[in-house]
Amino acid sequence: MKKFLALVLALAMVTMSFALVSCNEAEPETNDEVVENNETPEVPEEKPVIKMATNAYFQPYEYYEGDKIVGIDAEIAALIAEYLGMTLEIQDMEFDTIITAVKEGAVDFGMAGMTVTEDRLLEIDFTNSYATGVQSVIVPVGSPITTVDDLFAEGATYKAGVQLGTTGDIYASGDLGSDRVIQYNNGNNAVLALVGGSVDCVIIDNEPAKALVAANEGLMILDTSYADEDYAICVSKENTELLDKLNEAILALTENGKIAEIVAKYIK
Ligand code: ARG
Repeated sequence: MKKFLALVLALAMVTMSFALVSCNEAEPETNDEVVENNETPEVPEEKPVIKMATNAYFQPYEYYEGDKIVGIDAEIAALIAEYLGMTLEIQDMEFDTIITAVKEGAVDFGMAGMTVTEDRLLEIDFTNSYATGVQSVIVPVGSPITTVDDLFAEGATYKAGVQLGTTGDIYASGDLGSDRVIQYNNGNNAVLALVGGSVDCVIIDNEPAKALVAANEGLMILDTSYADEDYAICVSKENTELLDKLNEAILALTENGKIAEIVAKYIK
């Protein structure tokens, strides 16, 4: 019996000393943490930067409000960056340089109301689509062009203004021939040319078309549309990891209704 008691006591002591050891071990760790916390009081962790390329003359997707780029794409991109724990940096550039900037890694992704096309897919990858668009035709009120078909009629010589490198440019150049298409560096300049009489119509995405018609008197949008499109974010083919993350973010922001909320804020 005594032996048994001694064994129990011995065991108890061993257990206690283990407990003591582990206490002692835990202590310096706790101290370290305290010291560390004291050294960096309330300094928020620096988030990595994610760079987006756009062309900010495309209301309501991206445009300037003062010196800030706002719009559907800018807001969705900010939420995507937040979802990824990153800080968004937007770089404004000519639309037709975005794909090269993405391909060469000067930026991480391009988001510019950009339409998914077969040709672009040869150069870059696209995420799942987050919005749809329509190519519309803007004409002066009273124009002899009353439907899209008038542009393609036998013997028609109407000239179309487009934004360089956009699908409006690509489709019109193919359908009408490049001598009937005049390229401008943005939609605003194409519309100025229309108002000034150098072109007979402007082919551009329908939401920017609405904004341009609202900002310039005497213009209207034809009822018939030219083409239906899907907008997506473009990423380098090398960066499938980012492509997956962006798709995950788009899915989450679609499911929680945030993307629809942003779109509804800008498109009434
Ligand atoms: N959806 C058209 C395209 O992808 C026009 C996009 C123009 N976007 C811009 N931000 N300017 O070609």
